Amino acid sequence: MIPELIPELGPLRSEPLERGDQLWREGNRDDALRAYTEELERDAADHFTRGMAHKRVVTLLAERDGIDAAFAHYELARVDERDLMIAPGEVLLCATVQDEAERLPFFLDYYERLGVDRFLLVDNDSHDATRQLLLDRPNVHVWASGMRYWRANYGMAWLDVILYAHGRGHWCVIVDTDEHLWYPGVEERDLHELCAALEREGAVVMQAVLLDMYSETAIREASCPPGSDPASVCGYFDRKFSHSCTEHATPWSNIDAFWGGVRRRVFGSESDVFLSKVPLVRYSDDTVVLAGTHGTAVPPDAVASERGALLHFKFTSRFVERLEAEIRSRSEWDSQGESYSTYARMIATEPDLTLYDPRQSVALRDSTQLVELGVMRAASLNGDATSADAVVVGDYVARMHDEVPGWFTEVDASLFRAVDAAQRAAGVHGDLLEVGVYLGKSAVLLGYLVRPDEEVVAWDLFSGARLAGEADAQFYVELTQAAFEENYARFHARAATAYAQPSSEIPAAGLGRRFRFVHVDGSHRYDIARDDIAAALDLLIDGGVLVVDDYRTLPHALGVAAAAWEAVADGRLVPVLASDQKLYGFAAGRESGLRELLQGAAHDFAAMPGLDLDVAGNAVTVFSTNALTTGEGERDESGADDQPPTAAGTEEVAELRRRLELIENSRTWRLRAKLARLLPTRRR
Ligand SMILES: C[S@@+](CC[C@H](N)C(=O)[O-])C[C@H]1O[C@@H](n2cnc3c(N)ncnc32)[C@H](O)[C@@H]1O
Repeated sequence: MIPELIPELGPLRSEPLERGDQLWREGNRDDALRAYTEELERDAADHFTRGMAHKRVVTLLAERDGIDAAFAHYELARVDERDLMIAPGEVLLCATVQDEAERLPFFLDYYERLGVDRFLLVDNDSHDATRQLLLDRPNVHVWASGMRYWRANYGMAWLDVILYAHGRGHWCVIVDTDEHLWYPGVEERDLHELCAALEREGAVVMQAVLLDMYSETAIREASCPPGSDPASVCGYFDRKFSHSCTEHATPWSNIDAFWGGVRRRVFGSESDVFLSKVPLVRYSDDTVVLAGTHGTAVPPDAVASERGALLHFKFTSRFVERLEAEIRSRSEWDSQGESYSTYARMIATEPDLTLYDPRQSVALRDSTQLVELGVMRAASLNGDATSADAVVVGDYVARMHDEVPGWFTEVDASLFRAVDAAQRAAGVHGDLLEVGVYLGKSAVLLGYLVRPDEEVVAWDLFSGARLAGEADAQFYVELTQAAFEENYARFHARAATAYAQPSSEIPAAGLGRRFRFVHVDGSHRYDIARDDIAAALDLLIDGGVLVVDDYRTLPHALGVAAAAWEAVADGRLVPVLASDQKLYGFAAGRESGLRELLQGAAHDFAAMPGLDLDVAGNAVTVFSTNALTTGEGERDESGADDQPPTAAGTEEVAELRRRLELIENSRTWRLRAKLARLLPTRRR
């Protein structure tokens, strides 16, 4: 009879829900209500079907008996006596609170500044000053409920009733009090502007990644004084903010599912938390938000192209103080992938446990940083590489051996990406230069890493004839600038700026100190390599990285080896990473505190374990296919690791490469490292 008020079940399957819908359509609302209640009692019900069932219960009760019946059903009683006249266009915030007197003042101010006009809150049995504090604020409306929190779908059913009564047609922020919503440009755009932009693209929800924030200190010392901004105490997050992401997840293929993050790093796989949330919703009759706002049943094209972040201030001293109580209250209901007993056990054995790790922890700066790191996503990518593009970059690396002739390994591709990731995290902006591009195998990767306001500069002789006499000149006979440019254009709409000159001209070219990345991969003669390194070091900005190719390749590149180690021994080049082919370092005095972050990123990106070494007083992480450096933890029980790399036959090599490509970018590092070691090393 009112089927248009029922949000479609879509891909969901549930016998009680389907029966209830049929009964409702036939006008038998009493039995429909019983069927929906049956769904709520069903052990096999999940977040999706439960969210649907609650939404149907609220709508059905409101239609059958009036909205007061829905308030009564969920035992909701209004506490404040203020007029509740919501003007069109008001942005609302809905939340369930319990004993939040310390957090609420800043929380309410924060969201008011962001553009929230009115707060609709459920006080779930607070015993501190929460109730009075809320009643004292002019734009806050409060309800209380005697129902158990988890019975009310972890609070979401309460919010469904309130929003059905007062919020339909309004944009509504649905968050917990320890969550601060961020979105691209949050510093300049308020929520009204954001929601207008979302409406223009036809979106009704915006997703966000839950970003756990923490302090540099032990968790138990991270105390946030009442009324203070928790970000001033907990100002760090993990550069690797999630361990896995599945795009177009959920039965509706509508949001990107992020898992893991710092909780998984520190507390292990038992804390593989689901990090995707839907905290901003244009509420309507058919908006279904799942418990904990961990999902929604809307079509994919109704999800905003922008993605926000929910800064999550869970890990403060209060977390440790309340751990026991939390375990007791959570024993009644599931804990969404978290293991509170693991938290308790680890904190008991290590009271000063900290989440801070210099190889992972990044200081929060601004919304641009979160977009660049792929936590958030801007509406228009403008060719910028973000986590969405990480798939595209990975795709190029997987195909590059088939697509572009040249000399560039997957390991170095990973390390290039690690440098870029660390620089994004640390806010290092600058251009990218490659000396010796050949047909662009590595330069094309730089083209994926460059940001819209940066430039790729490609420097090469582009003429084998001018290299006459050099051992490897024979390889470059056919090389022309046009061939490089055509190749590069196959991958990138924006061209690199090319210089067809000997590298000895670099100092006179006046490029300026503006590069965050310089890859020296040109001549193998000692005198030229020495000058290239010197010129490159001059061009690096703070936090910039120099990569020297062939610093140890035999037989023809001993000159580069001499030049590279001379620069290291002189203290001008400060090494930080090394692969079989390339040495990575900073210009002396321009390390900019990036070393550990870069090494952490390299460990994450590389498809093999790294070995941390002291090299002439410098902490260097080495990634090598040499079995000696593969590390104890990764040894294969079959003994295959003990075998020297084989010179496999062509077909075998092709098959191995095919298998490697299949698992490229997957987390099967161990298998990948094993396969990689079976392949003959690519050498010129
Ligand atoms: C090993 S290749 C570069 C490989 C390339 N980066 C890749 O990813 O395949 C070396 C390149 O350096 C260039 N080259 C050699 N000596 C040079 C010099 N003195 N000045 C400029 N370019 C030079 C060669 O023309 C050649 O294209």
